[in-house]
Amino acid sequence: MIRKIANGVYNVGAIDWERTLFDEIVPLPQGTSYNAYLVKGEKKTALIDTVEPEKLEQLLDNLEELKVDKIDYIVSNHAEQDHSGSIPYLIEKYGAKVVTNAKCMGFEKDLLHLKDEDFIIIKEGDTLELGGKTLKFIMTPWVHWPETMTTFLIEDKIAFTCDFFGSHAATSHTFAEQYDRIYHEAKRYYAEIMMPFRQIITRNIKKIEELEPKIIAPSHGPAYSDPTFIIDAYKEWTSPDTKNEVLILYVSMHGSTKKMVDALVDYLGEEGVEVKVRDLTTANLGEIAIDMVDVTTIILATPTMLAGPHPYAVYAAYLANALKPKAKFIGIMGSYGWGGRTVDILKENLGALKVELLEPLLIKGLPRKEDYEKIKDLARIIADNHREAGVLK
Ligand code: FEO
Repeated sequence: MIRKIANGVYNVGAIDWERTLFDEIVPLPQGTSYNAYLVKGEKKTALIDTVEPEKLEQLLDNLEELKVDKIDYIVSNHAEQDHSGSIPYLIEKYGAKVVTNAKCMGFEKDLLHLKDEDFIIIKEGDTLELGGKTLKFIMTPWVHWPETMTTFLIEDKIAFTCDFFGSHAATSHTFAEQYDRIYHEAKRYYAEIMMPFRQIITRNIKKIEELEPKIIAPSHGPAYSDPTFIIDAYKEWTSPDTKNEVLILYVSMHGSTKKMVDALVDYLGEEGVEVKVRDLTTANLGEIAIDMVDVTTIILATPTMLAGPHPYAVYAAYLANALKPKAKFIGIMGSYGWGGRTVDILKENLGALKVELLEPLLIKGLPRKEDYEKIKDLARIIADNHREAGVLK
């Protein structure tokens, strides 16, 4: 399926309706797409990014339909194989040169076994003339690897941003139309792979805004004919502002920790604090990640098992540590039978986070009346913290 973006500019990439998992861990409830953009100049033709090799046939069919028999340049914005994996075949078939930055070249020599002579190396601000269409290269690192860059088509004011501003969403729409759906999928995508690089991304957003694009065309999901929609969403997610929300990630073996969670939810409600609750036995990475984007407080609730936290709680702590959400407070609570290192082990797994750790609340066995008072105190402390953070009036 060919999707026209502008005169002489087509999305010739592949839609992957069936894919359910990315990186063997990230769920894809809406499938995904690998967008590859053909830009036809009067003299030269460029392809911006390619597709996951499994979907190469879709790309080749689209190129054939457009009667493309020569590709001069493959612009590679990002070395990850869902965008670069088909490059070796396309070099072979079309005799194209790969246009990218030096860091990306290094990765592609390792990942795809390309050779020095396959590349034309560009740097920040360089341009490539195709004849009536000029590509300009803007370095936008860490969206999502250190080598990532954006290609800007000057005449049509189109920013090809690869993963940046993308969404894992299979759709036959060329441009985003179902805004609620795409907002959610783009937020999930941001949460899963970009959240750890929030501050660098803020600078990258500014660089893209300065280009004053009319269209943003990422390499996953639909393009945006209204760039402010996705730029504003990214500004919201990357800003230091959090919401009056607590995310409780819990696992409970025999119900004691669950009773603590239920009580905390009730008490936080009485304090006027919004709560999201995820059972770690069923929640997937995408759901946990998206929930983390703008909460002020995260609570890890776990029973003590084998003298430490339940492995699912360790997973949640590890995930929070890796994704680095902007939450300001983290708490640990749970029930234990006879002791253990639950708090120490979870703390060790949260070491990279610049958060205030709340006083942990561990209780022995099934909560008693006095334990519920302690949970109520915890809810009060959280509400006070939220007031101090300015998110609760
Ligand atoms: Fe869509 Fe980081 O690759």
